[in-house]
Amino acid sequence: MRPSVFIIFGITGDLARRKVLPSLYNLAKDGLLPEPTYLVGTSRRPMDAQALKTEIAEAVQAATGQPANQAVIDSLQPSMVTLDPAKAEDYRGLKDHLEQLQVEQRLFYLSIPPEVYGQVVNYLGEQGLNQGPGPVRLLVEKPFGTDLASAQALIDLTAKHFTEDQIMRIDHYLAKETAQNILTFRARNPLFNRIWNYRHITGVTITATETIGIEGRVGFYEHVGALRDLIQSHLLQLLSLTLLDLPSELSSQQVHDAKLQLLKSILPANPVEAVRGQYESYRKEVDNDISATETYAALTLFSQDNDWQGVPLRVITGKAMAQKHTEICVYFGGGNQLQFRMQPDEGIRLSLEVKKPGLSEQEPVETTNMDFTYEHAFSGVGNPDAYERVLLDALRGDHLLFATDQEILASWNILQPVLTAWQQHSDDLIIYPSGSADIRP
Ligand code: BG6
Repeated sequence: MRPSVFIIFGITGDLARRKVLPSLYNLAKDGLLPEPTYLVGTSRRPMDAQALKTEIAEAVQAATGQPANQAVIDSLQPSMVTLDPAKAEDYRGLKDHLEQLQVEQRLFYLSIPPEVYGQVVNYLGEQGLNQGPGPVRLLVEKPFGTDLASAQALIDLTAKHFTEDQIMRIDHYLAKETAQNILTFRARNPLFNRIWNYRHITGVTITATETIGIEGRVGFYEHVGALRDLIQSHLLQLLSLTLLDLPSELSSQQVHDAKLQLLKSILPANPVEAVRGQYESYRKEVDNDISATETYAALTLFSQDNDWQGVPLRVITGKAMAQKHTEICVYFGGGNQLQFRMQPDEGIRLSLEVKKPGLSEQEPVETTNMDFTYEHAFSGVGNPDAYERVLLDALRGDHLLFATDQEILASWNILQPVLTAWQQHSDDLIIYPSGSADIRP
């Protein structure tokens, strides 16, 4: 890999602290980064390199529970550039700063609110920061727009300055180990592959519930809500991996083509089938007693693909629920089902119906499980955080675990009828107590 620099916009934000900085640190600690790899942060208010080092040390301590090793932090040679996203001259300052570093690749990581995204991308382009020496990559965090039209506008704007090959749209769920395993499992086990269609599968449900609420992300969440935050990105991406028509090889191009074909086959969601809820203390937390932002959303979707006709595809997400639980469940009828468990207890479980032992005249049937867990099967093999994978793949320029512009548009297209309906009224919003297992009565 080439000597590189990560330039992080939003380095003092929540995501950088929780995920990006600890992941970069871990990669440096494990010697997995090219040498040298520099870390440059930008912030509106002046901040010096020492303050950034302290920020990294605190982030590492909070994420790992262990004190950070100062030598590892120093190896990233952290530095700061003061940059107001609205000032052209500040980008010139950034350019001068980057020119002093001996690198062959620049990675701009935008961990910033959607409102400033367009401005930053425009200035990066106008000031020539979209060109090398060597490859230049733009890493962007979701949500990509707020609806179909705004996503299209953002994609058009970005395309003025960056080629699709330069843009890496992060969806960290794709980088979770169990998500990466979906295609391997499907491709390597013909047993399942041959029955992977509506003739044998009665339904697919993807659930991602969290126990946490919005954790102080008031400004972000009020405008976003569960449908945009989790379903548009993570859950529709998982759905596409679960159902896509397996390509002959799992190359980035072929997988993206197959994902897109699947996403395009899904009919726009029917608002009548959509459920939304909000946890009880939410309005107080955001200080808006008429907020209609959903913290729970559930949709039932259908695909027009020949293999999936009539199969209900459920996607469900909620905050402040009873359990942290992310899984894909493929139902074969009766108690027979296959689960991909992302968290907790990552693994794959096959539920089977078997005869319960005994001498009774009837044949009592019970559902029992064949379980693969990473913890048992691969104990001692580390399970890196998804963000470590994201950063490494970005350094390598590998697009497999990122979302393409067309996938993003196809996802918004599926959700658009619900977004429109939910904007027009909110009388179906269910208020649920925190810690609910399900929100429906
Ligand atoms: C993020 C969402 O993308 O994913 C958050 O913006 C959510 O609202 C988070 O809490 C969940 O990620 P994970 O990896 O903890 O399941």
